[in-house]
Amino acid sequence: MKLLFVTLCLFSCLYYAENANIFAAFPFPGKSHFNMFESILVALAEKGHNVDVMSHFPRKKPIKGYTDFSLVGTRPFFTNNVSIDMFIHHSKFSELQLMMSLGGYDTCESTFNSEIAKNIRNSSHKYDLVITELFATDCMLGWGYHFGAPVVALSSSAALPWANDRFGNPDNPSYIPSYIHNGGDALRMTLYERVVNTFWTLYAKLIYNHYDKVSNRMAKEFFGEDMPDLSVLAYNTSLLLTNSHFSIFHARPTVPNFVEVAGVHLRDPKPLNQHFEDLLKTDTEGIIYLSMGSMVMTEKFPPNKVQGIADALGELPYKVVWKGVRENFPEGVTFPKNVVFEGWMPQLDILCHPNVKLFITHGGLMGSQEAIYCGVPRLGIPLFGDQVVNIKQSERLGIAAKVAYEDISKGTILAAATKLLNDPSYQENAKLASERFKDRPMSALNTSLYWIEYVIRHKGAPQLRSIGAQLPWYQYYLLDIAVIFLLPVLGLGYLLSFVFKLLFSVKVEKSKRD
Ligand SMILES: *[C@@H]1O[C@H](CO)[C@@H](O)[C@H](O)[C@H]1NC(C)=O
Ligand SMILES: *[C@@H]1O[C@H](CO)[C@@H](O)[C@H](O)[C@H]1NC(C)=O
Ligand SMILES: *[C@@H]1O[C@H](CO)[C@@H](O)[C@H](O)[C@H]1NC(C)=O
Ligand SMILES: *[C@@H]1O[C@H](CO)[C@@H](O)[C@H](O)[C@H]1NC(C)=O
Repeated sequence: MKLLFVTLCLFSCLYYAENANIFAAFPFPGKSHFNMFESILVALAEKGHNVDVMSHFPRKKPIKGYTDFSLVGTRPFFTNNVSIDMFIHHSKFSELQLMMSLGGYDTCESTFNSEIAKNIRNSSHKYDLVITELFATDCMLGWGYHFGAPVVALSSSAALPWANDRFGNPDNPSYIPSYIHNGGDALRMTLYERVVNTFWTLYAKLIYNHYDKVSNRMAKEFFGEDMPDLSVLAYNTSLLLTNSHFSIFHARPTVPNFVEVAGVHLRDPKPLNQHFEDLLKTDTEGIIYLSMGSMVMTEKFPPNKVQGIADALGELPYKVVWKGVRENFPEGVTFPKNVVFEGWMPQLDILCHPNVKLFITHGGLMGSQEAIYCGVPRLGIPLFGDQVVNIKQSERLGIAAKVAYEDISKGTILAAATKLLNDPSYQENAKLASERFKDRPMSALNTSLYWIEYVIRHKGAPQLRSIGAQLPWYQYYLLDIAVIFLLPVLGLGYLLSFVFKLLFSVKVEKSKRD
């Protein structure tokens, strides 16, 4: 009994982080981003911390320790409210710009103008930790300054180019594909790909710094002129948890406060209820599951694209379960008999069902991870942002095939789907990727909780920080050392040429005299 108690205490006392007061600022209204954050915030509340969450997604079911500060109504909403034209036919330049405005200063402005944010700022709340998103602006870092609390950043994608420097995290574009350019067909980039990758890595950082100046002004207006510049606060971030994992992206070196936790929202699949169990029952070869995520609805696709997809699926000996509402599709579109519609589905549980053989998707990160977790190959139709990268990374692993949105037709969809369903290597690789993705010392969620509590326990955990983050770039890249090493070489060369000239002129004079 005593032994048990001692063991229990050893374990819990060692890993004990006092119940902390945590302020979570997540004002970007993207549901797919928030899915990841919510998993972590809920788990923190369940571990006994008090978590105050400012977001656009208040919980429907309250839980103890989790308090919502709702931003609903402070700006237009994206979920199920984005037309495809908003994203298609944009160059990468304007896509980055859109990200910096919608995700960046628009987000800062609507949040700082809201009564809810002003009330929190004026309140006498005390917080031990601030958690926020590292996406298209740093303006929420002001909360860390305001409350005098360390900051943990979460990234719902793999690290964006500007997320590396502040941690001194290695980010060499010679072998690390930037999230904007996403590399070539093979992991090892060709000379041309390295040129393009280097360009986007640098360009993305410059653009980010440019727009962050706008955010900086807004943040100083809100938090007070004494607030250090956001760029200074950014370099003081204690920890970054990113939604990536070497098994599905690429192996890269990371500093201790840069932790890869892809899959925090994943859990063991639950058995389906009778309704969905019936939905997935079939006497065909299996189920094809089609969903384009929570932002864009297939109902809003142009009729000829929808018709192309529908006609292709009609040719396949599979039952198709399509996320959508039949009545909302444009008039004139006809669907084959093997397609059924369903408005909402428990996606992870559906994907892990043994009947599901193929997932047709836009390639959003959450859905991609769910498919990898369940070992299901994907037909990706990426629309914007990281979807292109996610599909590309999976093509390299042999677990997905892409059809570009512009190329959607009966022929292209049918060819890709047939390849994915009939070539057994796709199913085999998907099972392999699933095993590699799941094999970790601790679950993604427990890893996240461990490091967040570590930062609380160690009051910002400065021991995690690499001094590399503080060096000016010419020191970081050893340019000053290169000069110091080169100087003696240059000096020696100069000396040699001087001696040579001297000898030569002596010789010449001697021969003249002779
Ligand atoms: C949907 O988007 C439009 C255009 O951005 C916006 O005016 C509208 O308020 C949004 N709808 C909701 C429910 O937020
Ligand atoms: C917050 O405090 C500032 C001054 O400290 C005051 O000007 C402002 O009206 C207050 N706002 C709210 C919403 O209480
Ligand atoms: C996560 O940690 C908790 C204890 O804190 C443990 O009960 C649970 O089994 C762990 N989950 C996984 C998947 O490792
Ligand atoms: C950096 O963060 C630590 C806590 O993690 C805090 O004590 C310190 O004041 C911060 N420095 C700046 C310049 O914000």
